Amino acid sequence: MSSTDQEQKNEGASPDPEERTAWGHIVRGLWRSPLGLLGVSITTISITLMGVGLIAELLGLFHNPYAAMFTYTVLPGGMVLGLALIPLAAFLRRRQWHKYGIQREHLKINLSDPKHRRFLIGLLVLSVVNVSILVIMAYEGYHFTDSPYFCGVLCHQVMEPEYKAYQRSPHSKIACVECHIGPGAQWFVRAKISGLRQVVAVLTNSFSRPIPAPVHELRPARDTCEQCHWPEKFVGKKVKRFVKFSNDDQETPEVNEIALHIGGHNPETDAFEGIHWHVSKDVEVRYLATDEKRTNVTRVKVKRPDGSEDEFVKTSDEEEGEVHQGEHEPEWRLMDCIDCHNRPTHIYDDQEERVDFGLLSKRINPAIPGIREDSLEVINTKYETREEATEKMVADLMAKQQTRDPDLAAQHEDGIKAAGEYLLESYLNNVWPQLELYWGTYNKHLGHEKADEGYGCWRCHDEEHENANGDTISQDCALCHDEPE
Ligand code: HEC
Ligand code: HEC
Ligand code: HEC
Ligand code: HEC
Ligand code: HEC
Repeated sequence: MSSTDQEQKNEGASPDPEERTAWGHIVRGLWRSPLGLLGVSITTISITLMGVGLIAELLGLFHNPYAAMFTYTVLPGGMVLGLALIPLAAFLRRRQWHKYGIQREHLKINLSDPKHRRFLIGLLVLSVVNVSILVIMAYEGYHFTDSPYFCGVLCHQVMEPEYKAYQRSPHSKIACVECHIGPGAQWFVRAKISGLRQVVAVLTNSFSRPIPAPVHELRPARDTCEQCHWPEKFVGKKVKRFVKFSNDDQETPEVNEIALHIGGHNPETDAFEGIHWHVSKDVEVRYLATDEKRTNVTRVKVKRPDGSEDEFVKTSDEEEGEVHQGEHEPEWRLMDCIDCHNRPTHIYDDQEERVDFGLLSKRINPAIPGIREDSLEVINTKYETREEATEKMVADLMAKQQTRDPDLAAQHEDGIKAAGEYLLESYLNNVWPQLELYWGTYNKHLGHEKADEGYGCWRCHDEEHENANGDTISQDCALCHDEPE
């Protein structure tokens, strides 16, 4: 017989249990049972650490997502476990007494007995305190799992690219959940369930690389974007400037200025016009795409403000009977904001634009001969890892310049190094070979630069989708933009 058994037997046989109060019994019992002691210790430590974590978080003493994760998930779990162990220990103890034939009275509660009343009040107060602590932790934890910090940093290896691109975007001050979940309990629950699945995918290292876009379960953009933007707002025309250099002329760019007809609800005419016409309240544009990326649009249906309806069919594809591949069945999709603004915040750059911006901002010195061509080659190199790129990129640019002309390379050494560092910075903002994310993995639909790959307005505006009358969805340049006045 072990010493604890011995003790328990002795205690069970103690002659005058009536002298102790119920609390006295419980507390004494706890100290006697290793399991009870464990429960008390876990609960006390958890509550203390939660208090410290919460205060530190509120005072902004540290900002460590792992510490927060620990405070909001592991510690409350510990507290609940500890609390559950205490009655379990008592139960096991009673069973043991039973086994040794020690008779115990059944639990009787007599409210007219002040000792019993004190016991019950004590129990009630303790329960209220414990439940309050858990509610506070759940509330804080809920906010924490909704913070960009949680989404972007905790899963840092997986979400690093999205988080980085987001941080330099116009939406960098907007929480991930504003677009990925939006208001309302239903989407919240859906998001947390799919979030749980994603956590499992990360832990088991079975997530897709790159993460597929578009996100098929993304909440309809009208529910999210329209919390802050509304298509009724009249934007009118917006002038955009595109600056491009060429390998033959690194110093004087070709400049293109276009005035985009963004439109919206024109208060003068009371009509929706321009590009935002697609999302005006009386218009419905639906389309059927045969691929996962929604780039191959075969049919487009439109309902116009005057009530007329039409369907445009891309006959060449229909005849070929393109076979759909992927996990999502082709389905009619109601066009919303993200069919154009698919990259509102995870905006990855184009490598040529980065090089041209370098020349424009003089971070790449345009006076160095051949620097544009060499820069493009270096920035497009398929390094195995980001670390390898960090190690080699500047030297690779230098080597290319040296083969071109060793004397000039020596003369421009500082300039070439500076250019190399600029290229590396651009590369590190956009390429994650370990996640199979390279230049051009994600493309935007705004515009038509990558029309040949199926991105942009020309998925529909290609003069190939015809209605019954043989009319097409127009590709007339002036429909969308003209020369600025
Ligand atoms: C302004 C709205 C918005 C915000 C804020 C936002 N996202 Fe997104 N996110 C989107 C849209 C829209 C897509 C779908 C992209 C597509 O269809 O190409 C997306 C796609 C993604 C994807 C899929 C991969 C990809 O790049 O397409 C991940 C992962 C992601 N977001 C994570 C995040 C994280 C993490 C944050 C916060 C740090 C965040 N998002 C904030 C709108 C947003
Ligand atoms: C919580 C509010 C909020 C939500 C939700 C939101 N945005 Fe924004 N959006 C902003 C703010 C703030 C700016 C920055 C305005 C500025 O820079 O003047 C912005 C800027 C933009 C711009 C202009 C970017 C530029 O280059 O100037 C576009 C386009 C845009 N948002 C589209 C979207 C789309 C599409 C969605 C839904 C997927 C969305 N936004 C969701 C608040 C929001
Ligand atoms: C048919 C494509 C299309 C759809 C659908 C669309 N937009 Fe746009 N939107 C554009 C284009 C093109 C621009 C100009 C882009 C630029 O500045 O480069 C623009 C510009 C904007 C801007 C910036 C306006 C400014 O003042 O600079 C905001 C904000 C915006 N859109 C929000 C939305 C929201 C919200 C929705 C959904 C309700 C939406 N858009 C639907 C194509 C679209
Ligand atoms: C999913 C197919 C689809 C895509 C993608 C699309 N459009 Fe359209 N667009 C249409 C249809 C359909 C019409 C109406 C044609 C008709 O009424 O005959 C239209 C009409 C327009 C109009 C004329 C609106 C008016 O005032 O009547 C403009 C401007 C326009 N689109 C611009 C754009 C731009 C810019 C983009 C890309 C950023 C774009 N569209 C992408 C299907 C599309
Ligand atoms: C359905 C609408 C639409 C039509 C039709 C259209 N464009 Fe565009 N175009 C756009 C949008 C939107 C952008 C802005 C892209 C951006 O903001 O990055 C753009 C940008 C451009 C640019 C600047 C981008 C660059 O890389 O230099 C040029 C040049 C251009 N378009 C030429 C044309 C020409 C030429 C035609 C006629 C054959 C045409 N576009 C027809 C919507 C259209």
